[in-house]
Amino acid sequence: MRTAVYPGSFDPITMGHVDVLRRAAGVFDRVVVAVLVNPRKAPSGEAAERAAAIREAVAETLPELAGRIEVTIFDGLTVEACRAVGAGHIVRGLRAVSDFEAELQMAHLNRRLAPEIDTVFFMTALEYGHLSSSLVREIAGFGGDVAGMVPPSVAARLAAPGAGGGRL
Ligand code: PNS
Repeated sequence: MRTAVYPGSFDPITMGHVDVLRRAAGVFDRVVVAVLVNPRKAPSGEAAERAAAIREAVAETLPELAGRIEVTIFDGLTVEACRAVGAGHIVRGLRAVSDFEAELQMAHLNRRLAPEIDTVFFMTALEYGHLSSSLVREIAGFGGDVAGMVPPSVAARLAAPGAGGGRL
């Protein structure tokens, strides 16, 4: 069984993330989406909310793959999240050359921390290459329409009365 971890902030999950997830599930038997808790950025309660949104989004957009996709929350190193679930690979998406430098650095550092774990990149589909969670948050925060940028259930969560500033 080949397991990969797809780590990220997913704040919120976008259709670009869903695209990468779909393609990763085409290569790996099991993909574990690991939602980062970053106390400097957002409290852990928000990570639980983001994880719930991802589970709902997977059921809705990738129902045929849902049995092979898991969602967890982690607050340590990505390589430790990999070891915890027995993953030999980290999955990341690349939208443009501008992503490359930071991703290259992370891939090399993760490999230094855990030589047994390799990073695999998927080039985000062109139609989603311009999307970013932060811009989706900004648009939703100002009441703009994010349909098609995020899964329908995420768009509904962002528009719900409890959501604020584009956060779930
Ligand atoms: O969605 P993001 O914000 O681009 O994801 C960044 C993420 C979560 C993959 C990265 O910040 C990370 O791996 N954080 C966990 C802590 C860690 O392992 N740091 C060392 C990376 S070399």
